[in-house]
Amino acid sequence: MAPSGIAPVATLGERFEMTPLGKLLSTQNGICNRLLGIPVVHWFATRIGPARLRARSFDVKYRSGEWDFRSDSRDLARLVEEYINKGHLLVLGCGTCSIVRDLTPNSFTSLLGIDLSVEAITRARRSSGSRERFEVGDMLTFQCQQQYDVVLFSESLYYVPGRHRAALLHSLRANLTDTGRVIVTIAEPKRYAAILKAIRLAFDVEVDRALDSGERHVLVFR
Ligand SMILES: C[S@@+](CC[C@H](N)C(=O)[O-])C[C@H]1O[C@@H](n2cnc3c(N)ncnc32)[C@H](O)[C@@H]1O
Repeated sequence: MAPSGIAPVATLGERFEMTPLGKLLSTQNGICNRLLGIPVVHWFATRIGPARLRARSFDVKYRSGEWDFRSDSRDLARLVEEYINKGHLLVLGCGTCSIVRDLTPNSFTSLLGIDLSVEAITRARRSSGSRERFEVGDMLTFQCQQQYDVVLFSESLYYVPGRHRAALLHSLRANLTDTGRVIVTIAEPKRYAAILKAIRLAFDVEVDRALDSGERHVLVFR
């Protein structure tokens, strides 16, 4: 019971955790990990599951080797370098942060990567340089401690529930430097057309194009 005497309302994720399937997926065994590796289960767990289950579903992807984003796009790295001004980079949903390997050394002063997956952060830390820091955290509740020149969502914004997406992007604007920009990449622009459209309507979009002349799309805005 909450102090006010009013029973707290369980979130959708917490209610899911109380169902038989939610309880099963929360137990630590190989069968559950295999279940979480099934695309449709992974989709539901990462979109409506509680943070713990989402984190575990992402861990499964990294541990199974299915997610091994070794080489990112040099085109994306060039864009980041153009806007970062040798300043500070925040990567939300950084995973193993493969983009670091594509950035020119000394093109940034600091890089902070945040990801829900312990496995991804452990791997990112293995090869991190002195100006890079990687922390386990939820980008939905992450509190910026400084201003950033670039906030990058590389294939991670679609994991933010639709009802929180605009608020998150608007709140990040307060933590951009005067010339700071948010950069979002979306590998399946047709599938996530609504996200691209919502950003175009609500923000000043400067770059809106395909990356590496391929399917993957990038938006730069503030
Ligand atoms: C498709 S991967 C992309 C990883 C990386 N940005 C890249 O481009 O290689 C999506 C990442 O977003 C992370 N993620 C999803 N929801 C998150 C959240 N709420 N907070 C932090 N990270 C999250 C996942 O753990 C996963 O590592």
